[in-house]
Order: sequence, then structure tokens, then C-alpha cells
Amino acid sequence: MTAQRVCALSELVQDEARRVEIDGVAMAVVLDSAGEVHAIGDTCTHGDISLSEGFIDGDTLECWAHGSAFSLRTGKPLNLPAYEPVPVFAVVIDGDDVLIDPDVKKPVG
Ligand code: FES
Repeated sequence: MTAQRVCALSELVQDEARRVEIDGVAMAVVLDSAGEVHAIGDTCTHGDISLSEGFIDGDTLECWAHGSAFSLRTGKPLNLPAYEPVPVFAVVIDGDDVLIDPDVKKPVG
């Protein structure tokens, strides 16, 4: 699959997550306070909660349900109760378009 447009860069609000979906794969897209765009799997690994309803703090996205914060760079949870990472997707910015290929996961360190 090739990268698909999910939204316009100008539609993203800094430090707010936006839920997008490509072929049934839900993602949380975030424009962080440094101006960098991230995309991680939208479903918390602790429960069936949409992470895009959570809170941004720097380069983390915190699940509102029980407080696990996930790194927007690695997908790893930084605190319990979640202990499994969410996938991190490579984002391509093309002009004002935000593109994501759901098959391309960023390597996590
Ligand atoms: S459902 Fe996300 S931390 Fe519990």
C-alpha cells in the first residue's frame, strides 16, 4: 500500500490528537509543540480506548482512562498499567498534505 492523505497539515491543532483511519487501521495523528507530526496506533494497549481522546504532553500521548502515557516517537508506554507498545507509523508531509502508509511502521528503539 502506498501512503494515503489523511488530512491537511493546516487542519491539525497543536497538542491535540486527531483520529484518522486508513482501511480500518485507526491512528492518532499529533502535531506536537515542536511542530513535528506523529502518528501512532489509536487504540490503547491496556483497554479499548481511543488514544486520540487523551492528552498531549511534549512528545507523549496519555490515555485518559488510566493514565498510561505513550511515546509518540517509539510507541512505548512510559508508565503502567499499559505495558505493550502501540505501533508508530511513518508520516510524510507533502505541502499541506499529511500522508501515512499504514503498512510502514517506524523502527522503534
Ligand atoms: S485503557 Fe488506556 S491506560 Fe487503561
